[in-house]
Amino acid sequence: MPRSTLIDTLCAVPDPMLRIAPGGQIDEANTAAEAMLGEWIRQRSFVTVLRQPVLISQIEAAFRDAKPGTTRFTKTDQAGETVYRVQVTPLSAGEDGVLLHFADVSHFQEAEEMRRDFVANVSHELRSPLTALMGFIETLRGPARDDAEARDRFLSIMEDQALRMNRLVGDLLSLSRVEAEERIRPSQDVDLRDLLDGVIAALDQTAREQDSPVNIEAAPGDYRLRGDTDQLTQVFMNLTENALKYGGAGRPVTLRLSDGEGKGALRGPVVQVEVIDRGDGIDPLHLPRLTERFYRVDSHRSREMGGTGLGLAIVKHIVNRHRGRLRISSELGKGSTFAVILPRG
Ligand SMILES: Nc1ncnc2c1ncn2[C@@H]1O[C@H](COP(=O)(O)OP(=O)(O)OP(=O)(O)O)[C@@H](O)[C@H]1O
Ligand SMILES: [Mg+2]
Repeated sequence: MPRSTLIDTLCAVPDPMLRIAPGGQIDEANTAAEAMLGEWIRQRSFVTVLRQPVLISQIEAAFRDAKPGTTRFTKTDQAGETVYRVQVTPLSAGEDGVLLHFADVSHFQEAEEMRRDFVANVSHELRSPLTALMGFIETLRGPARDDAEARDRFLSIMEDQALRMNRLVGDLLSLSRVEAEERIRPSQDVDLRDLLDGVIAALDQTAREQDSPVNIEAAPGDYRLRGDTDQLTQVFMNLTENALKYGGAGRPVTLRLSDGEGKGALRGPVVQVEVIDRGDGIDPLHLPRLTERFYRVDSHRSREMGGTGLGLAIVKHIVNRHRGRLRISSELGKGSTFAVILPRG
């Protein structure tokens, strides 16, 4: 292939590509390769430029045995670490050099890491109630066999643990369902005002028990939108439950409804619901990670209260499905506001 044609072809590829001549110097590099490694690389030895032993030995093998292969190359700069899968291909059995193609696989790597973390988290969350259950079964078979009082007490703890596992599995199923539907646009007509009344009614008993009234503040307005009734109920149940749980006993919770145009980077008519508590607030440090699965500010307290740490992750997915936004603001000692902004159309 004439020189101009080869370099033109390489430059048309968005991934970094370069050719190493039989003498070991880099004689062709496309724009992406220069952007990745620097413009100085031309005519330099590949050993000087690439430096990573695994890749270097792969290239040497390609020259020696005329065999193609793949390997990894990691580049670290201010922006962080980028991982590439490098395809090493000898041209005309190495006589015309060796061609390298770099594909950025960082996002696959990240997804893989997230999947591993998720599995580890789920296993960990399931293991503790399960361990407790097995322990009590053992005790009931042995030492507490004939102790009616202990048996009742243990059974009620076992029930709590089983319920916790049940909640966790329920939340996991809910999360995967919401994720699966994330690209399907919701199509029901929902009146948020009515929906919030329903949420308040459902949580009435909890609110009474801890003496935290849940009030609704709504200026006259139009609160109808296109959405999924069950999912939006789940969003505001979760947020109001959190406000009650973490807001503290005796402190009221407010659901403030408003409508308007173009809030929170959304264009067009929107409806906003703010769930406001007067609790201890959340350290700003935690805010960016709050909607991650299993992320809890105080994991002991949250578990104690029966939380799975999946509530806000579910909320985020549902809000995304509705093409809305979730904004969290909080002040230590004063309380937190979780604002959901939903487009009406
Ligand atoms: N209103 C709030 N005030 C203070 N902290 C909060 C508030 N809402 C959520 N958090 C913190 O965010 C964490 C994550 O909340 P999330 O709703 O996802 O999980 P959870 O409440 O622990 O469990 P679940 O909702 O699944 O029962 C909570 O554990 C808590 O630490
Ligand atoms: Mg919650």
